[in-house]
Amino acid sequence: IRTIGVLTSGGDAPGMNAAIRAVVRTALGKGLKVRGIRRGYSGLLNEEIIDLSARDVSDTIQRGGTILLTARCEEMRTPEGQQKAAAICKKYGIDGLVVIGGDGSFKGAQKLSDFGVNTIGLPGTIDLDIACTEYTIGFDTAVNTAMEAIDKVRDTSTSHERCSVIEVMGRDAGYLALWCGIANGAEKILLPEEHDYDEAKIIADIKESRKRGKKHYIIINAEGIGDSMNMAKRIEKETGMETRATILGHMQRGGSPTAKDRVYASIMGSLAVDLLLEGKTNRVVGYKHGEYIDFDINEALAMQKGIPEYQYDIAKQLAI
Ligand code: F6P
Repeated sequence: IRTIGVLTSGGDAPGMNAAIRAVVRTALGKGLKVRGIRRGYSGLLNEEIIDLSARDVSDTIQRGGTILLTARCEEMRTPEGQQKAAAICKKYGIDGLVVIGGDGSFKGAQKLSDFGVNTIGLPGTIDLDIACTEYTIGFDTAVNTAMEAIDKVRDTSTSHERCSVIEVMGRDAGYLALWCGIANGAEKILLPEEHDYDEAKIIADIKESRKRGKKHYIIINAEGIGDSMNMAKRIEKETGMETRATILGHMQRGGSPTAKDRVYASIMGSLAVDLLLEGKTNRVVGYKHGEYIDFDINEALAMQKGIPEYQYDIAKQLAI
């Protein structure tokens, strides 16, 4: 390996810059050349490739977003796009590539590996929906950002003795919702994985909770269930309790990364370079049982994970 490329792909996540910085500085420290690819795979296909020095990543560890910019790229799903991307890597001397993103981005990395580019994936998404790892870059910051926002909604919701339906991101996964539900002491957490969404039960529970003296009612609704605005209207109509919906949206993706995201992303970035130098390819770095480990990308993509049931049960126990 002489030259390492690095790109971010899919939704941005806080901590991606820490990972980029670690890739750049570890590689330079080991005598390699580093090229940054802007705008993910679409930038690769358009040859948006720049040299990166140690100074180019100065003053970035604390910044949200990604300094390399990111994109979702349809062309990279096609065999022609994949072949073209591999040829461009070769043209620019990129023999090792670090891809920071989610499952979709790893599929691209896997194809590039088939075409002879050594690739390492780093899990970067606020959704935590990558099966081979208990940690993804950006989740910790996003959950803290959402938690703080929900605390604020709660203040006003309590003052007005209202019900609040608060929708958090996560695409089809409920990890952000589960964590916010526990961290914010929500009365109800609605998760796509649980398939137990029953509005009549929620309405009965709201009426019951008022009798128990509860002044407000917080529902954390995962994006995978959605429909928060209409849900709030129906709840207000059926319970007589004033109800408002808040969709937190993209604010959850921004902001300065937490210490955890900075540190884990830095370690993962550095490990990715070490793996490439060991001659490894088609691997993804994960964090499991207190250790950083790497998996074959195909195996990682075939893994499944779900919401830890005991955590969901605890959340329900604490909502009385
Ligand atoms: O994957 C991260 C994420 O923020 C999801 O939680 C959400 O469903 C999606 O991206 C939103 O994508 P976009 O920014 O393209 O609207």
